[in-house]
Amino acid sequence: MRDFDEHTITRAVVERLADTPDPRLKAILTSLVRHLHDFVRDVDLSFEEWQAGIAFLTRTGQACDRHRQEFILLSDTLGVSMLVDALAHRLREGATETTVLGPFYVADAPERPSGSDIAGPLEGTPLLVTGSVVSAGGAPLAGATVDVWHADEDGAYDVQQLDALGGLAGRARFRTDAEGRFHFWTIMPAWYPIPDDGPVGAMLKATGRHPNRPAHVHFMVAAEGHETLITHVFSADSPWLDSDAVFGVKTSLVADFVAHPAGTAPDGRAMDRPYRHLAYDFGLEPAPARAAG
Ligand code: BEZ
Ligand code: FE
Repeated sequence: MRDFDEHTITRAVVERLADTPDPRLKAILTSLVRHLHDFVRDVDLSFEEWQAGIAFLTRTGQACDRHRQEFILLSDTLGVSMLVDALAHRLREGATETTVLGPFYVADAPERPSGSDIAGPLEGTPLLVTGSVVSAGGAPLAGATVDVWHADEDGAYDVQQLDALGGLAGRARFRTDAEGRFHFWTIMPAWYPIPDDGPVGAMLKATGRHPNRPAHVHFMVAAEGHETLITHVFSADSPWLDSDAVFGVKTSLVADFVAHPAGTAPDGRAMDRPYRHLAYDFGLEPAPARAAG
C-alpha cells in the first residue's frame, strides 16, 4: 500500500496493527490511532504546530526525575487522571469516593501509634483528625492501614523541603483498632499551587488557568479483602474548591474542619490554644471475588 491521503492513512495504520498478539493492546492502539488522526484532521494541525507539540512533550519528559513526574502532572491538569479514576470506580455503594494520588505520596512512611502528633517541626493551627474505617457493608475494619500526608501552612509538602525539615513531617501511617478507629494530631494544611515551574505550568499560563488546589489531607486506606482507597478530604472553608487545578474535588470529600477554642479536645488532650477538628469515616469497597483455579 502506498499513496496515502489524509483519509486513507488512518485505515493503513490500523491495518498495520492487525497482527498485534495481545488483544487489549491491539484495541488500545487502534483506538489511539483513530482518535489521534481525527484530532489532527479536526484542528488541521500545521507542521509548526506539530513541531511545537513534539517540543512540549520532549520538555515534559525532560522535566521528570526521581522526585518529579511531569507527565502525571500533565495527565492531572488535563483531567485524564480523574477520568481514569471515574472509570475505575463506577459502582461504589457505601464506599468513600476516590480522587487523585498526586506526586507527594511516600510508600514507606513511618507507622505511628494512634493519637500521635505527626506535625514534627511544622508550625500552624493544631488539627485533630478522628476517623473510622468500615467495609462498604458497614462492618468496622480492624487492622486497616491509614496513610496520611498533607501540605503545611505555607502549602508545601515535607518532601519539597526535606533539608529544611530534617525528615518527613505531616505524614505517617496508622493502624485501625478493634472498632476500626484511628486518630492523630497534626496542623491545618493550606491550599497550594501544584508545581508550575515546568512545561505544565507554561500550559496553565498559556490557557489562562491558575495552578491551585484547595486545602486537603490525603488518605490511602488499605484493608485485607478490600480495594485500597486513595482519596483526600478537603476543607470546606478553603478557596479553589470549585476550580481545583486537577479536577479532584467531589462534594462528598468536602468536610468541616471545625474550629474549637482552647480547652479539652475530644481525645482528652488539654489544648492551650484554638484548634480544628476533622471527623471523617471511610468506607472500603470489598475486592471482587477471584475466580477459582
Ligand atoms: C496533590 O494533591 O498532592 C497533587 C495532586 C495532583 C497534582 C499535584 C499535586
Ligand atoms: Fe495534595
